[in-house]
Amino acid sequence: MSPRLAPSTGGPRVIAGTRGAEGPVRVRIGAEVVEWRPGETLIETLMAHYYGRRGRGSFQGCRRGGCGACKLRLEEGVVALRRDHSRDVLAPEERACGLFLACRAYPLTDLAVRPVARRNLFFERYGRALARAESVSTSDRSSPGR
Ligand code: FES
Repeated sequence: MSPRLAPSTGGPRVIAGTRGAEGPVRVRIGAEVVEWRPGETLIETLMAHYYGRRGRGSFQGCRRGGCGACKLRLEEGVVALRRDHSRDVLAPEERACGLFLACRAYPLTDLAVRPVARRNLFFERYGRALARAESVSTSDRSSPGR
């Protein structure tokens, strides 16, 4: 069973912004829940979760909004997304559909996210975890009664 998050109102939304919530929030990715700390981008939280605080260098994405390796789909909650990213890796239409880049994003509420692009060249261990999250998320959606 997936961990429960505090409900957000108004459905998932990606809005423009450069700051997140003032207190910690929980981010559900597949069956896992990680705690985001104020001041971090979401990719910093995920890197720390998958590699440890000293292992951030293991993630090979650009961390500047230029490669798309950290693209996620927002399923629940509200996220603030900085505008300084490449439109080639995240088009306005994608943003409008709830896609965002974790390296340019700050949670404003508890979130549930799902991986979109799986570029194993960049992801390595993170990609394997995201792949697991993706398969859990897929099986969640196909469960009876949902
Ligand atoms: S890590 Fe490259 S766009 Fe986020």
